[in-house]
Amino acid sequence: MVQKTLDDLFLAQLKDIYYAEKKIYRTLPKMAKATKVPELKQAFTAHREETQGHVERLEQVFEMIGKRAQTKPCEAINGIIAEGEETIEDFGETAAIDTGLVAAGQAVEHYEMARYGALIAWAKQLGMSKAAALLNETLQEEMKADKLLTEIGATKVDKMATAKMAA
Ligand SMILES: [Fe+2]
Repeated sequence: MVQKTLDDLFLAQLKDIYYAEKKIYRTLPKMAKATKVPELKQAFTAHREETQGHVERLEQVFEMIGKRAQTKPCEAINGIIAEGEETIEDFGETAAIDTGLVAAGQAVEHYEMARYGALIAWAKQLGMSKAAALLNETLQEEMKADKLLTEIGATKVDKMATAKMAA
């Protein structure tokens, strides 16, 4: 049996999140298009720009460990995004769509936060403090995006959905 190490796990998960970030980058415009709430549209659009930076940071980390930047299909993010697309299909014309989009966006952010949290811990264990710092910059942006979605949900979206549904 081939012995695998934490380095291998780090690389495997790096490829996984690299795939996920690229997929998220392609999906965010659909989410921005699906909402009529300006704050939410803006949040998705701004996060897409940040996501471009996340892709670039990952490429820097690949370079730091002397590996070619390569994706590995991530079934988890494919599933989360497919659910979001299903929400758009099923609720796109209803008052509930925006709160559905907030939830879909948060599912994506939470997945990323879990992955980056682990990658940062492993990078530190492997003595790669520069990579850990770089990945942490991205983690902070994911956390900020998640928090913004919570705020938009609470102040701009949820009440609106309830009001319309009650009417
Ligand atoms: Fe990201």
